[in-house]
Amino acid sequence: MNLAELNKVAEAMVAPGRGILAADESTSTITKRFEAIGVESTPITRRDYREMLFRSTEAMSRHISGVILYDETIRQNAKDGTPLVKLIAQAGSIPGIKVDKGTKPLPFSPNEVITEGLDGLRERLVEYRGLGARFAKWRAVIDIGPGIPSFGCLVANAHALARYAALCQDADIVPIVEPEVLMDGDHDADRCAMVSEWLLNTVFEQLFYQRVALEGIVLKPNMIVPGKKSPKRASVEEVAAKTLRVLKTTVPAAVPGIAFLSGGQSDEEATAHLDAINKLGPLPWRVTFSYGRALQAAPQKAWSGKPENVAAAQRAFGHRARMNGLATLGQWKADLERKAA
Ligand code: 13P
Repeated sequence: MNLAELNKVAEAMVAPGRGILAADESTSTITKRFEAIGVESTPITRRDYREMLFRSTEAMSRHISGVILYDETIRQNAKDGTPLVKLIAQAGSIPGIKVDKGTKPLPFSPNEVITEGLDGLRERLVEYRGLGARFAKWRAVIDIGPGIPSFGCLVANAHALARYAALCQDADIVPIVEPEVLMDGDHDADRCAMVSEWLLNTVFEQLFYQRVALEGIVLKPNMIVPGKKSPKRASVEEVAAKTLRVLKTTVPAAVPGIAFLSGGQSDEEATAHLDAINKLGPLPWRVTFSYGRALQAAPQKAWSGKPENVAAAQRAFGHRARMNGLATLGQWKADLERKAA
């Protein structure tokens, strides 16, 4: 392990004004997104769509520090034959790769899942590094409901995350450690805070046991928000304060950066929350975004699979990237959204 190199990459992933584009949707997930905009999902349309994002040169070079890819994409070439990985690197952004293999039901734990993908991971990491990946992602998924999460589910998922992170560092790849508490239920923000605090403590305990160097990871957590079905809504300030309290009590300052997932928040909510958190700084770590839906919903809608819409879609992507870039500095304002509309 070359910790100096890992730390350098991790710092670059969370550099001020920049954040991560999560473009690592599995084939079935991107197919669902394409269905919603009336686009057939084929290797070519998936390539065209992602090439369009990676060729948004200004957004990529100014605001996107890294791109998380899916196995299919890291092997694909742009229409002109340039590897997509090269396009990303040419824009000054770092290519990364999702390496988990998704979730399966956790035995004897109704409604809970475990993330799989450790078998063969050592070899896959060597291959991905050869293809250009300098960081990786593994997502653990924790749902809140009656009687869940269970201790067993948290420990199993945290252990897998820590085993993954150690294998990544051993292969000189920065692990994005993503323990996600879902916002699907009817729980309030305080329940989300309690579960997130428990989960993050468990994750850092397991990272310690697996001897993961915290200076060479990026944490990708959820924000502290109420479940989508909760009648008890939370203000932007409340989300920011609760999120920071949980992170400050659980995440050591040795971690270079925290890059949030958007997790089903609207584009603007995800930006406003990130901005409000950064306005409460100075913070012990860099705090940025690693958004999938919150960066891509607008360009997907603008594109709708039509070549004549590429410029508009790139503008929509550029706008969200710029807004989130400002939010990493605590410099976003709601009227910047209105002016652009
Ligand atoms: P969302 O921002 O859409 O939650 O996606 C981020 C991600 O990479 C989830 O694993």
